[in-house]
Amino acid sequence: MSTAFVAVLMGSDSDLPVIESTLDVLDKLKVPFEVKITSAHRTPDTTHAYVKEADERGCAVFIAAAGLAAHLAGTVAGLTTRPVIGIPMDAGPLQGMDALLSTVQMPGGIPVASVAIGKAGAKNAAYLAAQMLALSDADLSRRVKAERAASGDEVRAKDDDLQRRLAL
Ligand code: RP5
Repeated sequence: MSTAFVAVLMGSDSDLPVIESTLDVLDKLKVPFEVKITSAHRTPDTTHAYVKEADERGCAVFIAAAGLAAHLAGTVAGLTTRPVIGIPMDAGPLQGMDALLSTVQMPGGIPVASVAIGKAGAKNAAYLAAQMLALSDADLSRRVKAERAASGDEVRAKDDDLQRRLAL
């Protein structure tokens, strides 16, 4: 039986520094993933072929990051019925607003779950994909819950530290 995995696609290597956050979260949660640079505009045939064969190999969720006229997530969504999460990248003078609208304004019947522009969105795309896979994976569900609890502990520890410093 093939293992379910997440496919992380990005339109350019210039997206990679931000998408490292996506890969870090998937790594931390031990979610199997593949990563690929492929563009809806510059390499349409490669994008098409990869999505079709990744779908057949057991890709459970696609994450697609692109900036400017960001059509990658929408293109992927048109090629598969697996869930597609879009990350709008801040890659130009409109600071990601162009990519946000291009990613989120999909026609009815071809959904893309868009996260926020940039780094927070890049992290959340990975958490969201993990939460989707966790619906049928109890161990992953435990890791997601533990990670959520740890992030709360981190905030409380920072507040404790602030209160201690203010009390000096
Ligand atoms: C998009 O255009 C890419 O996803 C990237 O965010 C943006 C700029 O690409 P480069 O010109 O840096 O390759 O397709």
